[in-house]
Amino acid sequence: MEKIRINASVDYDVLIDSGLLKEAGELIFSALLPASGVSATDPLAARRQAENTTAVIVSDDNVFPLYGEALKNSLAGSGYKTIEFVFPHGEKSKSLNTYGELLEFMCDSHIRRSDMIVALGGGVVGDLAGFAAATYQRGITFIQIPTTLLAAVDSSVGGKTAVDLTNGKNQVGAFYQPRLVICDTDTLSTLPPEEYSCGCGEIIKYAVLESEEFFDELLQKPVCTQYEHVISTCVKMKKAYVENDEFDTGLRMKLNLGHTFGHAVEACSGYSILHGQAVAMGMAAVTKAASEMGLCSKETLVRLLEILDVYKLPSEIPYGLDEMFEVTLVDKKNSGSVTNLIVPTAIGNCRIMKIQTEKLKGWLEEGGVR
Ligand code: NAD
Ligand code: GLY
Repeated sequence: MEKIRINASVDYDVLIDSGLLKEAGELIFSALLPASGVSATDPLAARRQAENTTAVIVSDDNVFPLYGEALKNSLAGSGYKTIEFVFPHGEKSKSLNTYGELLEFMCDSHIRRSDMIVALGGGVVGDLAGFAAATYQRGITFIQIPTTLLAAVDSSVGGKTAVDLTNGKNQVGAFYQPRLVICDTDTLSTLPPEEYSCGCGEIIKYAVLESEEFFDELLQKPVCTQYEHVISTCVKMKKAYVENDEFDTGLRMKLNLGHTFGHAVEACSGYSILHGQAVAMGMAAVTKAASEMGLCSKETLVRLLEILDVYKLPSEIPYGLDEMFEVTLVDKKNSGSVTNLIVPTAIGNCRIMKIQTEKLKGWLEEGGVR
């Protein structure tokens, strides 16, 4: 098992291995023990405390039928009571509406500050459940069990939680770290192929940001044949960003590589283009623009397009220049006249460039958007 310690405002472990779901109860029990106020030498008192704790399992209607029962059994085996809140899958559920329903459900179920939320699912579940955990009674214990590749390598780690507003993604949220992340790589076996590709999009992002060697590994051996290695490599990279810049005011912005134009693609598509696919298009566009402007070599672009193709990820933005620029402006209107654009200078190296927001149109054009 890989165990990666994240030292942020809350210190916690990210555990990565196959078969962890059935051990989730004991893993959570052990992780919560130090802060429980109960002595580790008094196992009966610790067990009594677990028996007084309710785990609110938050999941979606694809994931819960697959893995909910195993998680419930494991939590019950460690003494926890469980209740579940299952909502329709998809980005549309990452809303104030679902968030409100979850809070009302917890209140009606008499959930207290000493109870906990366990998120079982992808980034939508984790972001929504995390925001509920951050705000219910001013904050209750939060555990992440990511079941998509994207959530395993990115969203479950680092404490960004949020829901969307009608006209803006992630517009309401909080930084709120989980107390434990349990990544059971077996759950990835049921991922639909396009969700696998999306996770690979975020993994390629880490390689372009940080490591040519990792980039080459991804080309030589498919991600699905080396999940534990790939996920732990990405989590270690993310760890450095989170520990240096937990609240996203500097270095952590680099994790937005491909996201400036990617968010616009998602919005233009009415969210029918998936996040990882949009990030792939965004990375391709910004790298093409960088290569046209002489900020990186043509070879960098060719290599990026090659790996996107290998992982069946799109690289062409299917929307026009005016439409893309308009949506980019809407996306940026609350963050001022300067955009921090993440620009690859080589495979394994990127820089943050401060661009006047109106100049992004030129970047889109150089990036092949007509
Ligand atoms: P998702 O949670 O919608 O999951 C994608 C689909 O896969 C859903 O239909 C889900 O039901 C299904 N699914 C999940 N696990 C499965 C499994 N094991 N087997 C079969 N089906 C499964 O989306 P996602 O791609 O995981 O996450 C995208 C979200 O994450 C977006 O809202 C994005 O904004 C957010 N995000 C957050 C952060 C962060 O730092 N908090 C980072 C990146 C992305
Ligand atoms: N996914 C971007 C971040 O966590 O900062």
